[in-house]
Formats: sequence, C-alpha cells, structure tokens
Amino acid sequence: MYNSARLPLTALLAAVVLGFLVVVSYLTSTLPPGEGGLLLRGRGAPGSQQDLAARGEQLFGQLSCTNCHNLNGQPGAGPALNGIFGTPVQLEDGQTMVRDEAYLRESILQPDAKIVAGYPRGGMSAGIAGIRNRLQQGDTTQALVDYIRSLK
Ligand code: HEC
Repeated sequence: MYNSARLPLTALLAAVVLGFLVVVSYLTSTLPPGEGGLLLRGRGAPGSQQDLAARGEQLFGQLSCTNCHNLNGQPGAGPALNGIFGTPVQLEDGQTMVRDEAYLRESILQPDAKIVAGYPRGGMSAGIAGIRNRLQQGDTTQALVDYIRSLK
C-alpha cells in the first residue's frame, strides 16, 4: 500500500546523500595538486608528496645519480645524499648552508652555484651535462628533491 509519508522521507534521504557527495568531492578536489585533497593526503595518492618521492627514486637510478652518490652515508664521487635534508653543509668558500628545498633544487639544476667543501668544482655539472633538459622537464627536479628529502 502507498504510504504518503514515504515521499518526503525519500526526498530527505536523497538530499542527505547528495550533500555527502558534494562534501566528499570538495575535500578531495579543491586543494592544490600535490596536496591531494584532505581525504587523500598522506596516502601516496597521485600528485602527493609520497607519490612524487617514489618517482624521484626511479629517476635517481634512471638519471644515473647513483653513479656518484651513495645513500649509505659513504662519500663517492659526490657526497652521500641520505639524511642530509635540513642539516648544515660546509661549502668550498667557507660558507655554511642549511640544505633546504631551495638548496637541493639549486644543487641539481645548477651544480656549480655552490660547491660542497672537499669536492671538485664541475664534478657534477660535467657528469649530468647530457641530462640537463630532462632535469628541467615538468616536476623531475621536484621529484628528486622529495626523494632526497625522504632519505633517512
Ligand atoms: C659525475 C658525478 C655526479 C653525478 C652523475 C651526479 N652528481 Fe650530484 N654531486 C656530485 C659532486 C662531485 C657533488 C659535490 C660538489 C658540488 O657541490 O657540486 C654533488 C653534489 C650534489 C648535491 C649537494 C649535496 C650536498 O651534500 O650538499 C645534490 C643534492 C646532488 N649532487 C644531487 C644529484 C642528483 C639528484 C643527481 C642525478 C640527477 C646527481 N647529483 C648526479 C657529483 C655528481
């Protein structure tokens, strides 16, 4: 039998479901790319920092950074890159810098801008001359920076 009280109830339910969907899509989509939205943040979602760091790990091998950089604290042709984020480094000109994001980005894109004490000027820039374009593409450098930042 038809119950006239059902109709408004159904409409109310539909409105609640619709409202819920609107809120969910708001939370997952309105934040800038890279943040991934409130619900997706911190879960390795596409565009999140974890996702970029994972790509950085692949690039680190593909772009032969491993030829000169160890990740076990032992220097190679270049300094080891693990555990360096946020720590101070002595440069050849006697200055001390904290290795923040900007420093890492510059170290990758313009290796000769600041030289780590004890290493040869031009040692890295010569080694990566063939991949400079690649480093400037899209978020390649940011992925490498996020990867290095994640290394303990
Ligand atoms: C041919 C060897 C060589 C290759 C290949 C190389 N580097 Fe380097 N890298 C060096 C040397 C030498 C230094 C230290 C001198 C300087 O500061 O430029 C250095 C310095 C750095 C630093 C700063 C380290 C610190 O302790 O402050 C970062 C970051 C870095 N390299 C990242 C990379 C990444 C990412 C790649 C791959 C795209 C790469 N390097 C490829 C030789 C290399």
